[in-house]
Order: sequence, then structure tokens, then C-alpha cells
Amino acid sequence: MMGKVTYTIFGGTGDLSFRKLIPAFFNIHASGELDFNIVVIGRRDYTTNDYCQLAYEWVVKHARYKVDEVNWQTFCQIIHYIQMDLDNAMDYQKLMDYYQVNNMNNHIYYFAVAPSYFGIISNHLVSVNATNQAKVVVEKPFGNDLEDAKRLYQQLIYHFGEDNVYYIDHYLGKEMVRNIMTIRFANPMFASVWNREYIDYVEINALETLGVETRGNYYDHVGALNDMVANHLFQILSIVAMEPLAQLTSEQLKVNQLNVLTQLKPVDTNDVNQSIVLGQYDGYRNEMHVNTNSLTETYAAVKLYIDNPRWMGVPFIIQTGKKLDRKQMEVIIHFKPVPGYGKANILVIKIAPNEGVYYQFNIKQPGNSDAIIQTSMDFCQSCQDVFRINTPAAYERLLLALANSDHAMFSDWRLIETSWIYMNQLKQAIAHNAQNLRIYPQGSNASFLNQSLFSE
Ligand SMILES: NC(=O)c1ccc[n+]([C@@H]2O[C@H](COP(=O)([O-])OP(=O)(O)OC[C@H]3O[C@@H](n4cnc5c(N)ncnc54)[C@H](OP(=O)(O)O)[C@@H]3O)[C@@H](O)[C@H]2O)c1
Repeated sequence: MMGKVTYTIFGGTGDLSFRKLIPAFFNIHASGELDFNIVVIGRRDYTTNDYCQLAYEWVVKHARYKVDEVNWQTFCQIIHYIQMDLDNAMDYQKLMDYYQVNNMNNHIYYFAVAPSYFGIISNHLVSVNATNQAKVVVEKPFGNDLEDAKRLYQQLIYHFGEDNVYYIDHYLGKEMVRNIMTIRFANPMFASVWNREYIDYVEINALETLGVETRGNYYDHVGALNDMVANHLFQILSIVAMEPLAQLTSEQLKVNQLNVLTQLKPVDTNDVNQSIVLGQYDGYRNEMHVNTNSLTETYAAVKLYIDNPRWMGVPFIIQTGKKLDRKQMEVIIHFKPVPGYGKANILVIKIAPNEGVYYQFNIKQPGNSDAIIQTSMDFCQSCQDVFRINTPAAYERLLLALANSDHAMFSDWRLIETSWIYMNQLKQAIAHNAQNLRIYPQGSNASFLNQSLFSE
């Protein structure tokens, strides 16, 4: 690891910073794992003291370490608030002067701003010679479409170099997403049956009870497909479905993930209604900053097939939505039943809000009967205090991985590009069929919405 690190958050007064980044930085500080400074950039006329006061309630609410007077004081000493207008070239020189006076080196720039600012900030940083050896972190969505993403990519690698650009997909930092590989590969009872011969279908769910809340402006331009499917859920899909790693390297991991995405079969334009369901929750158009005629989907379910020998013919059903009846992120492996021997085994990898593994299997009914009944083993990882305190929140893990230059925790341009290409094809198939957006009542059960995907 390099010496003392300086993280600079462009967009330090935004929702992401208060809810995720600052609490994650507090955790890293409290754990003592890294020596660092945080330079927070915002437009507003705050002092560092003002900023700390504002951040306090967010940290108390979201950090996993208890905030006390001592750790809060020492945390505020590593925060430096600087007021800047990101469009103003002069302000970047001010920032450089601040770095120099405070002897801040080893820079990691976190672009917690709209993607339209990625290029603007990069250009200004280049003009003050601030990109040399620096790392840069960009948030999703990476661009508004494939062409936009390509342009941004070229710009970033030109200024920072391919190896210094980190693409955040915070799902990759989630404990149980990282656990998928271990559960798959370290247990022969799963490793040996992880294929089309034994698996009937796979579900990947990211269901939410909340609506768009205050983020209507962002969400209405993006929708469920781009907000969730193209990044987080494709990442999970590719880890669930990839081939075992020949070498435990970040490059091998990305190559194997990429192979899955390139092998996704295009959705048949004649079969769109059996492959895609799009919905919008009732009342969405009345949400703050949402177009009153909006056609943006707040629910999306897609049935995908992977065109390779391991998965040929096995449906992967990916679904995500807002204002549903439950909050659940999970991967469900539905095994094929053994004819004449009870029901299918089911393996559930629970990612959030609870973390754990559930396995449903067949046993003989206890007693004189030979009837087959189902029972289950339910391991709740997050129920155990010892694991909960030791499980770094996803952003905390990623911020540390950045300091360690660990690319395995991040997405990769090849994955992003391939996802955009696939989404383009998917959206063309949707447009070609003029698919109706289904308005669903708030609190709907997702299995009622996606029924058409299960009909043959
Ligand atoms: N929020 C999330 O949960 C979340 C999740 C995943 C990804 N993301 C991504 O993270 C990024 C930030 O999202 P967000 O929700 O935090 O956005 P946000 O709440 O709108 O915050 C945007 C930030 O950019 C700053 N900003 C905008 N124009 C500026 C300018 N000219 N000069 C200086 N600062 C300027 C804002 O400053 P002011 O406070 O002064 O307006 C604010 O700090 C986006 O790319 C988003 O897609 C967010």
C-alpha cells in the first residue's frame, strides 16, 4: 500500500457522500486500517466545521462503529472541506495550492457527481497537472448510453491511464456477493451440480419497498434496466454463471465474467412478452421531479439464456423493482427435481437485508411413513454479532481496495461496454414490440408481475 492517502470527493455534499461515503470513511478511520485525509469538495459556502456538523447525524445513523466524542473529533481532523465550482478553472488551482500547503499526496479522486461532470473535472485536473499517478473512481451509471460511455472511457484512460481508473459497482463489495464464489466453488455438493444437468432455473432478485424518494430527477432518466440490471445484476449474474477461475487473479475473474456477458443470447424480438416485463408503480408520476407522463420503468424482469455448454436452455430470471411488498436481494438456484423423489432442492444466497444461505431439501417423513417431505437449513450470517461487526459495508471495502489498487473489487470497462451493448439490443427488442408498461399497485408481490416469464 502507498503512504498516506488523500481521497478527494467531488460532490461531497451530495446524497451518496452523506449516506454512503462519509459513514464508510468513518468506519475505516475507527478501525484504524488506513492513514488518510478526505478533501470534500462542495459548492456550498461551508467551513469544515459546518460540514462535520452536517455529516454527524448521517454517520451516527449509517456507520457500523459507535460514534463517540474522541473518534468523532479525530475523524473531523482528517476532513477538509473546500468550496469549489467544478466548472471554474481557477478553483482547481486553489485546490492544488491546498494540497501543497497541507503536504497531501497519493491522490484518489472520487467523482460522486453526475456523469456529465466526469470529463469536465478530468480536463481541469489535467490542466493543473494533477492527474499524474492519481487514481480516479467513477460512479454508475457510466454514461447515458454506449456512445457516451465510450467517449468517457477514452477521456479517462487518456488522462489517468487504464490501470488508474476504477469503476464502482458497490454490489461487488457486498459480503454475500463476494461469498457466491466460495459457496459455489468450495463446496463439492454445489460445485459438481452447478450446470444445466442439475439446475432448472436461476432467479436473481433485487426487490425494494421504497420508491424513488428524493432521487426522481436521476431515476426518471435512467429507469430500472439501466439503474440496476445493466450493472449490479449483470455483475451478480456473471459471477453466478462464470466458469471456475484457472488462476485467482482479478484479470481472470473479469475475463470469466466477461465471457458470460458475451454469451448472453439476444432476446428474440418475436418472444419479447415471454422474456421481458416492465412496470411502473401506481403514483410514480406524482413523485417529486418525475415527469407527469413518464414512461420510465420502476420494475423490470428479464428472462435470459446463456449460450454455452454449461447453461444452454437454463433460464436466468433477473428482476428488480421499487414499491414492492418486500425488500430482498437474493440469488435463488432452483435445482431439477429427482423424478419420484419429492420436490426440487432450492438454494438461496441471501445478500440483503439479511445475509445468509438457505437450503431446502428432501427427507423421509419421520416415523413409520416413507413419504418424502421438505425441510431446510437456514444459516443467517448477519444474525451473528461477531460477523456483523466484522462485515465491512460495501463502500468501506471498496474504499480500502482502492488504496490497495485491488481491481477485483471493481467493475471493468469491458464488462461495462458489453452490458451497454446487450442493453441496447434489449431496448431495441422492447421498442420493436411496443411493449406496454404495466402500472402496478404499490406493495405488489413480484411473482404476480413476472408470471408471463414462467409460461412456456
Ligand atoms: N445517491 C446514491 O445512492 C447513488 C448510488 C449509486 C450511484 N450514484 C451516483 O453517484 C453520483 C452522485 O450522486 P448523488 O445522488 O450524490 O447526487 P446529488 O445528491 O445530486 O449530488 C451531486 C453533488 O455534485 C455537486 N455539484 C453539482 N454541480 C456542481 C458544481 N458545478 N460545482 C460543485 N459541485 C457540484 C453537488 O453540490 P451541491 O450540494 O452544491 O448541489 C453535490 O455535492 C451520480 O453519478 C449518481 O449516479 C448515487
